[in-house]
Amino acid sequence: MVNVLFVCLGNICRSPTAHGVFAHQVAESELSSTILVDSAGTSGWHNGAKPDSRSMAYAAQNGYDLSFIRSRQVSEDDFIRQDFILAMDTENLENLKSICPSEHIHKVKLFLDYADLPVNEVPDPYYGGDDGFHRVLNLVELGGIALLEHIKQGLE
Ligand code: 4NP
Repeated sequence: MVNVLFVCLGNICRSPTAHGVFAHQVAESELSSTILVDSAGTSGWHNGAKPDSRSMAYAAQNGYDLSFIRSRQVSEDDFIRQDFILAMDTENLENLKSICPSEHIHKVKLFLDYADLPVNEVPDPYYGGDDGFHRVLNLVELGGIALLEHIKQGLE
């Protein structure tokens, strides 16, 4: 089993998008029983909430379902249970590192570090317009493909 956790600030825009898209990519590769996907926020501001309606709409237009996801905050247990704890940006990366026990710190990375892209962060779309949400979906799709390749190599 490989446990993957995507982390952003609110767990209503970026990390649920990564959660839904990566779960879809994993299913297409017939690895759903090997790779378990989850998401959480460094804040608990939106605990229990569905993903942002804009994120759900863009995802649905592109064939991804986010409606089953509910926001939750990262817990101590995540650092033990998860194998990959992947932050959407450097601020969330630093926040995660500041609370992660040292024996698990190797699990905490930037999501886009696995992708060969000119950027390494998925920018926060929450206070912006439609462009930001499209950008999140594009980056998450590309990042997911690269992450899946990385994990598959580890499974061989
Ligand atoms: P996310 O976006 O971290 O991608 O879920 C945000 C959602 C909510 C807020 C900030 C970012 N907020 O300030 O409530």
